[in-house]
Amino acid sequence: MVNINVGTQNGYEIHIEEGLLCRVAEECKAVLSSEKILLLTDSHVYPLYGETVSRALSDAGYAVSEYVIPAGEASKSVEQYLAVIDRLAADGFSRSDAIVALGGGVVGDLAGFCAATYLRGIPFVQIPTTLLACVDSSVGGKTAVNLSAGKNLLGAFYQPRLVLCDPLVLKTLEPSVYADGMAEVIKYGMIRDPELFEALENRAWTDTQIIARCVSIKSEIVAEDEFDNGVRLLLNYGHTIGHAVEKCSKFAVSHGSAVAIGMMVMAKAEPNGEALAERLEAVLKTYGLPTRCEYAADDLYAVALSDKKRRNQTLHVITVPSLGNGRIVSIPVEELHTYLQKGLSE
Ligand code: GLY
Repeated sequence: MVNINVGTQNGYEIHIEEGLLCRVAEECKAVLSSEKILLLTDSHVYPLYGETVSRALSDAGYAVSEYVIPAGEASKSVEQYLAVIDRLAADGFSRSDAIVALGGGVVGDLAGFCAATYLRGIPFVQIPTTLLACVDSSVGGKTAVNLSAGKNLLGAFYQPRLVLCDPLVLKTLEPSVYADGMAEVIKYGMIRDPELFEALENRAWTDTQIIARCVSIKSEIVAEDEFDNGVRLLLNYGHTIGHAVEKCSKFAVSHGSAVAIGMMVMAKAEPNGEALAERLEAVLKTYGLPTRCEYAADDLYAVALSDKKRRNQTLHVITVPSLGNGRIVSIPVEELHTYLQKGLSE
């Protein structure tokens, strides 16, 4: 088993191993002294793994309540949040009881925010079931729900007690959902890790190896900058333009596809970056990700400026002047237009 320690203020471990789902109860017993557990999952994951996890936790002596949300981003809402909180209260959850989140980013973010706020904070364990959740959203304690004004506008930094990652669950993912996670994996190679990037180019590593490397990179970054004021911004490579692509498409383009396009724009806009941009394009295509979009620089620019990442008249963008060397660069917002023009040109 790979064990990675996340050195945040409330540190915790991420355990990665094929078949780990079968040992979920003993793993939880090691960190949760709760009497009750709310197993929060979604309508897609529940039939695949929910009953097994629920039974294992019950057999281990926990009083398990199941809460199954409809699969999809629409469930990351204030209404759903309040419904979960009402359920915790109705079932008499105390501060020592816990939530176990079994699912992708929506389940993890919602469960984490409920755990962060119910009774001012109760323990939670994350069991990510998508590649994106394994390598990104389950690591580092960003929890949130969406408001009609934008995504993730109501949230908290709140770390789980434990993350259990079983790469075997990725076998049941739709190829497009797996590809979505690969965009974030490729991002880690670009910003921090030439060895990972080359392994991806050659399809040389297993899912377990890939996840372990990405989690270890993200853990290091998060330990250094838990609250996202410095080096953690590196994780936004491709995201400023990616978010603009998502918004322009009214979220028809998935997050991973949009990040892939965003990284491509930034790579092409990099001075003397042609060779790396070609390698990035090839690796994105290898994993079924898009490298172009139909939107014009003007449209993406207008949407990007309305994004919450804008800080007064300065914007942080992430550039990769050479493989593995991500940099945080402060630019006047107007300069984003130049990046877009250069990065979208053929
Ligand atoms: N997903 C980026 C971060 O956790 O900071």
